[in-house]
Amino acid sequence: MLSQVNHNISEGMSNLKVLVTGGAGFIGSNFIKYILQDKEYEIINLDKLTYAGNKNNLVDIENNKNYKFIKGDICNSNLVNKIVSKNIDVILNLAAESHVDKSIENPNVFFKTNVLGTQTLLDAAVKYNVDKFIQISTDEVYGASNSKKFKNEEDCLSPTNPYSASKASADLLVLSYQKTYGLPVNISRSTNNYGPYQYPEKIIPLFITNLLDGKKVPLYGDGTHIRDWLYVKDHCQAIKLIMERGKEGETYNISGNNQYQNIELTKRILDLLNRPYTNIDYVNDRPGHDPGYYIDSSKIKKELNWNPEFNIEEGLKKTVEWYKKNEVWWKELVE
Ligand SMILES: NC(=O)c1ccc[n+]([C@@H]2O[C@H](COP(=O)([O-])OP(=O)(O)OC[C@H]3O[C@@H](n4cnc5c(N)ncnc54)[C@H](O)[C@@H]3O)[C@@H](O)[C@H]2O)c1
Repeated sequence: MLSQVNHNISEGMSNLKVLVTGGAGFIGSNFIKYILQDKEYEIINLDKLTYAGNKNNLVDIENNKNYKFIKGDICNSNLVNKIVSKNIDVILNLAAESHVDKSIENPNVFFKTNVLGTQTLLDAAVKYNVDKFIQISTDEVYGASNSKKFKNEEDCLSPTNPYSASKASADLLVLSYQKTYGLPVNISRSTNNYGPYQYPEKIIPLFITNLLDGKKVPLYGDGTHIRDWLYVKDHCQAIKLIMERGKEGETYNISGNNQYQNIELTKRILDLLNRPYTNIDYVNDRPGHDPGYYIDSSKIKKELNWNPEFNIEEGLKKTVEWYKKNEVWWKELVE
């Protein structure tokens, strides 16, 4: 079925009303600013403002007439129902606890938000007949792989830490709502994102801000773990395409195709900031640290004509420049 979403857009009908959850976080805030450039969208941002959510990420657009912020929890069904009952066309679920290290220390909140929160949103989507539910998932749900086996959307899920297990659980829940209740859904599974407004706990912003602060950078194990890096704007473009043209029930892998060992990535960051490699502090590895992820994103390229615009050289340079210019933004988060 070509959803109402596609119909509304192609027919130039009234604005599309999208409930974005977790829109004060890294990807969510980048996405909201990106999508609001298109005047056909009206965005309601529901965010609990955990330590990772930051209203300062959205100051540029907070007075945009097509934007509204609501502080609240996706697990609060009364609140979610109240919002979704007001003619929401699309739910885009980005709200999550997203840091693997924190999930190892305290899995509980990960399952509450990432699984039960998703279920609360799905229930509201069914109850109020939303046209599309999009779940933002991650390549980590497939578990580790190597360059001999690029995982595609049909591969089974094999998560290895509480974060990825909670995201995999949510994916299965989303797919079950499509089969059981006929809810039109899509899932995106992207590789590691980086770019402006990423909370300085993840490797790239942590390392950049540490170095700007005159500190060393803590690298797990021997640094040979491999991650595939996607510039956040490329992810935002993919999400918009999925929202407008994704086929009902389909999952789309999104890869930047920039596979690097963490040690190579670290050296690039040090080079960009003119710091010697002696600033690397090798620390004990994270338990259950997946050696690498490789996903095949030929489906979204072929079916939705998506292609990443940024390679790691350009993306990393832009990101380092952004953190250099926006010390006020990150300083208060690291103190
Ligand atoms: N960052 C990545 O590299 C990456 C890669 C693939 C997928 N993802 C997924 O994309 C989504 C967004 O990731 P991110 O990096 O922007 O995360 P983030 O941690 O920067 O932001 C998460 C946002 O969700 C909000 N939130 C948390 N719990 C909530 C709750 N119970 N109710 C309402 N809001 C809540 C937080 O306040 C925050 O604003 C997540 O679902 C994540 O799993 C992230």
